[in-house]
Amino acid sequence: MARILITSAIPYINGVKHLGNLVGSQLPADLYARYMRARGNEVLFLCATDEHGTPAELAAAKAGKPVDEYCAEMWAVQKELSDGFGLSFDKFGRSSSEQNRALTQHFAGKLADAGLIEEVVESQVYSHADGRFLPDRYIEGTCPNCSYDKARGDQCENCTKQLDPTDLIEPRSAISGSTDLEVRETKHLYLRQRSLRGDLQAWIDSKTDWPILTTSIAKKWLNDGDGLQDRGITRDLDWGVPVRRGAEPWPGMEDKVFYVWFDAPIEYIACAKEWTDGSGRSDADWERWWRTDKGADDVKYVQFMGKDNVPFHTLSFPATIIGSGEPWKLVDYIKSFNYLNYDGGQFSTSQGRGVFMDQALEILPADYWRWWLLSHAPESSDSEFTWENFQSSVNKDLADVLGNFVSRITKFCRAKFGEEVPSAGVWGPEEETLIARLEEGLAKYSAQMESMEVRKSAAELRALWVLGNEYLQSAAPWVVFKEDPDRAAAIVRLALNLVRVYAVISAPFIPDASARMLSSMNTLDMSWPDDVREALNALPAGHDFAVPDVLFRKITDDEREEWQQKFSGKRD
Ligand code: MF3
Ligand code: ZN
Repeated sequence: MARILITSAIPYINGVKHLGNLVGSQLPADLYARYMRARGNEVLFLCATDEHGTPAELAAAKAGKPVDEYCAEMWAVQKELSDGFGLSFDKFGRSSSEQNRALTQHFAGKLADAGLIEEVVESQVYSHADGRFLPDRYIEGTCPNCSYDKARGDQCENCTKQLDPTDLIEPRSAISGSTDLEVRETKHLYLRQRSLRGDLQAWIDSKTDWPILTTSIAKKWLNDGDGLQDRGITRDLDWGVPVRRGAEPWPGMEDKVFYVWFDAPIEYIACAKEWTDGSGRSDADWERWWRTDKGADDVKYVQFMGKDNVPFHTLSFPATIIGSGEPWKLVDYIKSFNYLNYDGGQFSTSQGRGVFMDQALEILPADYWRWWLLSHAPESSDSEFTWENFQSSVNKDLADVLGNFVSRITKFCRAKFGEEVPSAGVWGPEEETLIARLEEGLAKYSAQMESMEVRKSAAELRALWVLGNEYLQSAAPWVVFKEDPDRAAAIVRLALNLVRVYAVISAPFIPDASARMLSSMNTLDMSWPDDVREALNALPAGHDFAVPDVLFRKITDDEREEWQQKFSGKRD
């Protein structure tokens, strides 16, 4: 049994996330967490809301609410939606927590002690119209790297380059749109990342098994020449973690807060302490996941994120950890994703374009979305959501393949043998062939799941469902029954057991449907089919079951058109 620490990039607090956000980190992280638990490993799966910085302030201002109140409300909304999607976090924390405040200040103190923090008088953009500095997302303009005209002051969404507000060409205020801007001097703390370049290079070079998407982005910014600039880690804002040097005040920094990208990844650690504090556990219980001097040496730590997050997780956050000189756990594997597009364009929070998590659950249960999103995860390239594709995947994979198998065999059994596993007959060559195929398919499925190949895992799972249908088709118990009811009973016994096996192996993708399959099979036995033959005997002759309600309904053409229409505009 291994110990696996899993974090998903923590979503910004500024509103309900769209399906592109979901499939880019939280959902595949959940898939992996559920699978690893199902295989008997000890898993700690953490996520939180990213509450500081300009996204939160801008959204609160738009909602006309004080930012702390806005964050508390949106945390509850996001928590409910993540529960609705079955995201099985051990803790869904908040980056504005006490724990994160203390830990962020602690890291800053350690970095300062190590001589890695410099006080720099720097130029920041000041807006006359708004009467304030405009850090990060408070400012927009044209990217100096790729010319994208909606680049933000912290990063270009288009080419992933990290930016400073003064880098932007033709800058404008994101609050007022004003271009009446001036560059003024203000003092800030800089993390001397350049002096950690060698350490980071060696660390990244040692990660030979990382996905290409991850290492290519990391290396691009590391070797770019200006990729690993010393970075400002403080801001002239009210909302955030107040700048302190550990527990001590930081002279000259009284009215400033840490930059959101400094405190947000530290929340991965603080969230573990939120988890233990909130559940009456001791500090040792979270430290054994995070401190290599306290047992975390044998933990495997995996992070999930969209590609725009990669530079922060391969360079900035490791710089914080390594620079602290303390024995914190570094990430072992980073699984990153491309973007999911929506019907010929981009999903966009700011433009309200696409389907958002709350809207999705209003029209269909979570499993339908989970299946489509995971089986179309944007891994090797960007992928696209279209309603046609969604309809056809749901109808074919879920309704025609899995749903049909379950309903056909349970109903047939009820009609001919009653609602209990029939006892007569023995297995023959057809069953042996099926067992061999299932063994082979399960090995492939497990291998893909272990290596976090999300789409390939979905394809292997679907192939396993198809095997059951093909078996039923060729064994044809409804035909055999007339001549040889005992033989039909043997087929049915196997197929009913296969329903339980499907429930177990499908649970990481479609947990609700799996739970319904298990309950209709009247069993709590969730053991993984390590031994297929044994697993196909788990439900013994005479075991009661009940025909389940329809597992997955089909999406009609009318519904598809209605939804396509409904989600073609902007969300208000
Ligand atoms: N909120 C960021 C985003 O959605 C992700 C933050 S991840 C962490 O892009 F590393 F900061 F935690
Ligand atoms: Zn760019």
